[in-house]
Amino acid sequence: MQNFTFHNPTRILFGQGRIADISREIPAGARVLITYGGGSVVKTGTLNEVKAALKDFTLFEFAGIEPNPTYETLMQAVELARREQIDFLLAVGGGSVIDGTKFIAAAIPFAGEPWDILAKQAEIKSAIPFGSVLTLPATGSEMNSGAVITRRASNDKLVFLSDLVYPLFSVLDPTKTYTLPERQVANGVVDAFVHIAEQYLTYPSDAKVQDRFAEGLLLTLIEEGPRALQEPDNYAVRANLMWTATLALNGLIGAGVPQDWATHMLGHELTALHGLDHAQTLAVVLPAMLQVRREEKREKLLQYAERVWGLREGNAEVRIDQAIKYTRQFFEKMHVSTRLSDYGIGSDAIPALVAQLQRHGMTALGEHQNLDIKRSQQVYELAV
Ligand code: NZQ
Ligand code: ZN
Repeated sequence: MQNFTFHNPTRILFGQGRIADISREIPAGARVLITYGGGSVVKTGTLNEVKAALKDFTLFEFAGIEPNPTYETLMQAVELARREQIDFLLAVGGGSVIDGTKFIAAAIPFAGEPWDILAKQAEIKSAIPFGSVLTLPATGSEMNSGAVITRRASNDKLVFLSDLVYPLFSVLDPTKTYTLPERQVANGVVDAFVHIAEQYLTYPSDAKVQDRFAEGLLLTLIEEGPRALQEPDNYAVRANLMWTATLALNGLIGAGVPQDWATHMLGHELTALHGLDHAQTLAVVLPAMLQVRREEKREKLLQYAERVWGLREGNAEVRIDQAIKYTRQFFEKMHVSTRLSDYGIGSDAIPALVAQLQRHGMTALGEHQNLDIKRSQQVYELAV
């Protein structure tokens, strides 16, 4: 096991009815800016529930944070927050709203051009405190320190990380996920699945607890993901999925182990250039990625084949083939297509994708930093 420091400061308020408890988590007298997306929280009543819980605070609202949140939109919130002397933010929505709010939180007190936080990985010295009410289990953003922000003008979709942008608290009420369209339920399951894969399907590092934990989370997604599509109002199913998605990317299973993240980096370019949903990009890239890198990932792929898919017998190469095939079939079972061609993207799109990777310095990816541009190109080619 590798050395690590693990500290996750986010307080989780889990379960039905927990929105009522948020007023205790916010400093008295705070001027609170509630941030949300395209209106689902208005329709579902979640926004009203939040406002009722915060009736004793001075409230402001910023609507319109889009899926794959953009710098252009978020900077309008930054201006509003600066003008109104906001001192607490509350994100109500999915990963995009939470990620966007992390950027707003860091940008408000930032002295220079806030885009540098993404483009130059400029140091963040302070951030406005914030909480979240999660409505879409998927990204883990509700309990981690990362955010992915898009700049529309230049087709950049970039990540930043800072210990200063962990949410102070996050409400995880599984009943708030009942209204999700099937596509977003499926996206969430696939995203969480691939987060686990990025931290588990690398090479052995004698991290037994992290491995067993990762396998348990994968098995839960495999069991409960399809059930969420069939029984959308099943509380137990929703609760298990919600907690699984949070644990998949809150630092716990990634502590002390090598991490990959190449599938995400190749996926981000697909969203930036072609607008695919984040999870759709992952469903396309992961099977091809595992195939191209099956030698360097051999031991963990065999462990995955055995412990997650029950493949114990026969030729090792065949078992790896099967494990990759079952992974693809699972995504398809969730109704997320796994080929670029399913989204109308052909091999003619690959040179531009590869150029984006190059431009963003994504030239030595993966747990061995050996996924160069040529091999990334192979992955895209195999994904068509
Ligand atoms: O915008 P509204 O109207 O709220 O509708 C949203 C949106 O259209 C809708 N929705 C959310 N909750 C709902 C609901 N509709 C009905 N009922 C509800 N309860 O769902 C749509 C998608 O929402 P979005 O927040 O975009 O989805 P997701 O949570 O999958 O977030 C994706 C973003 O997170 C980033 C992705 O790159 C992408 O930009 N990621 C963030 C990570 C992190 N911070 O650690 C890691 C991930 O790998 C990922 O990259
Ligand atoms: Zn993801």
